Amino acid sequence: MSENIVWHQHLVSHKDRCEQKNQKPCVLWFTGLSGSGKSTVANAVETLLYENGNHSYLLDGDNVRHGLNKDLTFNDSDRVENIRRIGEVAKLFTDSGLIVLSAFISPFKADRQQVRDLFEKGQFIEVFVDTPLEICEQRDPKGLYKKARSGEIKNFTGLDSPYEKPEKADIHLKTDGKTIEALAQEVINYLRHGAFIK
Ligand code: PPS
Repeated sequence: MSENIVWHQHLVSHKDRCEQKNQKPCVLWFTGLSGSGKSTVANAVETLLYENGNHSYLLDGDNVRHGLNKDLTFNDSDRVENIRRIGEVAKLFTDSGLIVLSAFISPFKADRQQVRDLFEKGQFIEVFVDTPLEICEQRDPKGLYKKARSGEIKNFTGLDSPYEKPEKADIHLKTDGKTIEALAQEVINYLRHGAFIK
């Protein structure tokens, strides 16, 4: 596939871009069930990053499936391709010096590992948004659990399609009883501790 294709070295280097932005790029990979709060927490983290003067970009499941990945369904092989493409996009964005936040269910361990392998050690930060299925289903913000239970939607994650929980997430957010602000702050603390941001 890559025959006759030559990688170009750019004149402005990755190091130049990072120094200009005064941050160490990384990807915060939020994973969790539908309705677990991935996008909400990722948005709150991005707001704090913005207020801190950092440069970031949030890739969000629903949005990306409206454009780049609008050809993909929710069967297993399309979910694999969904995550593969997002991983490559996240890699380009981190190369540009950004802190990338991604909020996709990303239900399969092997796919998350494959994305991790694209990055330097420590640069891929898996954030498990751990909200029990019962709570996600009670919230049902988009009415999708109801539709899945009635058979209107097939292959719904957590019901008739699997979700493989991370066993050792870099950040494990147990959301129950915590505010969005507190959860976002846990992520910011991790970034400060790892010197990704000042
Ligand atoms: S995946 O599994 O990573 O490819 O999914 P993702 O790209 O994150 O898209 C998840 C959002 O799509 C909506 N949706 C479904 N989710 C799960 N299963 C099925 N069958 C499904 N159909 C539609 C749903 O709104 C998900 O959004 P979130 O924000 O996760 O609730």
